[in-house]
Amino acid sequence: MNQNEAKERISKLKKEINHHRYLYHVLDRQEISDAALDSLKHELETLEKEYPKFITPDSPTRRIGGEPLPGFKKVRHDSRMLSLNDAFSEEEISEWEKRIKKLAGSDETIDYFAELKIDGFAISLIYENSLLKTASTRGDGTTGEDVTENIKTINSVPLRLHNPLEMESEKEIAHIFKEYAQLKKVVTHIPEKLEVRGEVYMTKKVFEEINRAQKKADLPAYANPRNIAAGSVRQLDPKVTAARKLDFIAYDIITDLGQKTHEEEHLIARLFGFRTIDLASYCKNIEEILAFWKKIREARGKLPFLIDGVVVQVNANRLFERLGVAGKAPRGAIAFKFPAEEAVTTVENIKVQVGRTGVLTPVALLKPVSVSGVMVSRATLHNMDEIKRLDVRVGDTVIIQRAGDVIPDIVRVLKNLRPKKSMAFNMPREFCGQKVVQKEGEVAHRIPHPEKCELVRLERFYHFVSKHAFDIVGLGPKVIDRLVEEGLAEDPADIFSLKEGDIAPLERFAEKSAENLIRSIQSKKEIEFPRFIYALGIAHVGEETAIDLAKHFGTLEALANAHLEELETIPDIGGVVAKSIRDWFRSERNHAFIKKLLDAGVKPQRFKKEAIGSKLQGVTFVLTGGLESMTRDEAKAAIRALGGDMSESVSEKTDYLIAGSDPGSKLEKAKKLGVTIIDEKKFKKLL
Ligand code: IVH
Repeated sequence: MNQNEAKERISKLKKEINHHRYLYHVLDRQEISDAALDSLKHELETLEKEYPKFITPDSPTRRIGGEPLPGFKKVRHDSRMLSLNDAFSEEEISEWEKRIKKLAGSDETIDYFAELKIDGFAISLIYENSLLKTASTRGDGTTGEDVTENIKTINSVPLRLHNPLEMESEKEIAHIFKEYAQLKKVVTHIPEKLEVRGEVYMTKKVFEEINRAQKKADLPAYANPRNIAAGSVRQLDPKVTAARKLDFIAYDIITDLGQKTHEEEHLIARLFGFRTIDLASYCKNIEEILAFWKKIREARGKLPFLIDGVVVQVNANRLFERLGVAGKAPRGAIAFKFPAEEAVTTVENIKVQVGRTGVLTPVALLKPVSVSGVMVSRATLHNMDEIKRLDVRVGDTVIIQRAGDVIPDIVRVLKNLRPKKSMAFNMPREFCGQKVVQKEGEVAHRIPHPEKCELVRLERFYHFVSKHAFDIVGLGPKVIDRLVEEGLAEDPADIFSLKEGDIAPLERFAEKSAENLIRSIQSKKEIEFPRFIYALGIAHVGEETAIDLAKHFGTLEALANAHLEELETIPDIGGVVAKSIRDWFRSERNHAFIKKLLDAGVKPQRFKKEAIGSKLQGVTFVLTGGLESMTRDEAKAAIRALGGDMSESVSEKTDYLIAGSDPGSKLEKAKKLGVTIIDEKKFKKLL
C-alpha cells in the first residue's frame, strides 16, 4: 500500500467505524458483529501506527464513544472511565509485556492478574455513607448517563454496602474468604465515598428465555445478550430494566483504601458485598497468562454468560499508576481477546471453479486473513444469486465468517469502503470450451457435458481418492495432476495398476514415498460399499445418501440395475436424486469405468445391515465446535454405527445439536429452530 492509498483507506475506515459506533452507542442498533468492528478498528490502528501523520483528532482510535442520551441526567466521572487495548495473539501479548517492562525499568519485577472479560457493559457505582447514590454509564469516558433507578433493580448490585468490619463470627468471615485476615489491615473503615466499577450483563439463560418469549409473541429475536442488557439500562422506565433480570459483577475499586494490588480489589469488592469474577487468577509471568487464557478459551462455552476474552492487568497498583494512560487506555492493562470467527478482508479476485458434476461455483480470492486462528485466503460465493444479493465486487472490503472447518462465507460487503475501481463479476459465457447454461428453476450455472471437461475429470479424480471416499493417503491433487499430465493415469481406475517404477521417476518423488503410495493404493482395493458409492461422484449422492443406497441394495449389482420406482421408495431420496442415480448407471461411459475398477481388483464389500445398530435409527445430529474426546469423523462414525445420521447443517429435521467448544453459528440457528442442544457429555451418554 502506498501513502495515498493508506490515506484513503484510513479515511474510509474512520467513516465506517464512526457510522457503526453511532448506530451502536446512540441508537442501540447493531449492523455488524463486534468481531467485525474490532477487526476494522484493528486495521485502522495498525495503519495509523505505520502512518502516524494521518492520525486526526476525530479518529475513532482517539476517543471513547457514546454520547449520553438526552433523556438522562449527565454524570461527570471523578476519574475517567477508560477502555482497553486489544491483543489477539501470543505475539501481541509478548509485545505488550516488552513495552511495559521497558517503561517499568529493569529492576522492577512485574506480576499480573488475569480475569474474564465479560461481554456486557461498564457501570460506575458511587456509594456515599454506604448507600448507593449514583450509578452511571461510561458515556464518552468523562461524562456518562445517570441510570441509578434502573441499576437499582439489579439484585446483584448492593443498595447498601456490606460492612466487613461488622462481621462478627469467624465462621462468617471464613465463609466469605480466607484472605480476610490480610485484608483487615487494608480496610480499616468504610470510606465516606466509595466508587466501584464493574460490568452489567445478562446470562445466556435469561437471554434465551427472553428470545423464546419474543418468538412466542411473534416478535423478532434479539441479536445478543449485551444488546438487550445495554438497551434495558439505557431506557427510561426502571420497570423494564427490572423485568430483564440483569446481573452485575464488580472488577475495580476506584477509591484508594490502601489496597496494593488489583487482586486485593477483587477481595475487597467481595467483602463489601459485590459479586466478583470467580475465574480470575494471579499470574507470575506471560506463560501463566497464556495458560490461563487457553484454559478459559476451552471453558468458554460452559460459562453462564458470554465473554470475549481475558483482561490482564499489572497486579501492583503503584506500577499500574506509574505506567499511566496512552490515549484512551491504561498501559498497564490489556484485553486478550479470543480469535474471532469473523474477520474483515478484501476481495482480490473472483474466479470460477468447476465441481464434479459440472456446476460452476464462483470463489472469492481474498487477501489472507486470520479467522478463529486459521489463515484463510478464499471464500465461497455459492452462485450468481448470492453474488447479486451481497453485491460483492473485486476490490471490495468484506466480512467473512468461518464456522467449523468449512470454507468461509462472505456475510457482508462494507460498501462504504468500496474503491473507485471496483469490478463487478459476471459468469463467463463459456467454460472448458462449452457454453455455460442455467437449467430452468436452478440457481446454479453449469456446463452441459461435464465428462468432456478436463477440469471436471480432475475434480472427480480428487474426489475419488479423498478422505471419505477411497481415502488414499499421499495421493493429493498435486500428485494426481502429475499422473494425469504424464499419461500414467487417465481416470482413477488406472491407479490400481500403477507400479513403483512408474511413479518413482516423477519429480520430487522419493523411492520410499513411491513405495508407500503404491502400498496405500493396494490396501484400499477392498472397500466398504458406502465409500465406493460415494467415490463414484454421482450428482446429489453425498455420504449419507451413499449409506442409504448401500443399506437398501446391499450389492453393486443390485444398485446398478435399480429402477427409478424402487429408488424413489427409499426414504430421503426424492425424484431428482433418484433420476440422477439411475442416469449415472445407465451411461455407457460409467459402465466401462465400473468394469475397469472391478477388473483392476477393486472389491466393494457386501453391505451387512446387521453391522449397523438401530439405537439411533432415524435420529439426525449436527455437530458444531470441537469435541474433547473424539474427532469430528470419529463422532460421525459412532453415530452411523448405531444407525443415526450426521448432517452438516441445522434444519427442522435436526434432532440434536452437539455443541462442542467454541460453537459456531449453527448454535444460534439451532436455538432459533428449537433443536435440542446437548454437550459432549450428554452425547457420549446417548452413544
Ligand atoms: S477492567 C480501563 N475487567 O471491557 C478499563 N474490564 O474494553 C478497565 N470489561 O469498559 C476495565 N470485563 O466494560 C475490566 N474483568 C474486566 C472486564 C472489563 C469486561 C469491559 C469493561 C471495559 C471494557 C474495556
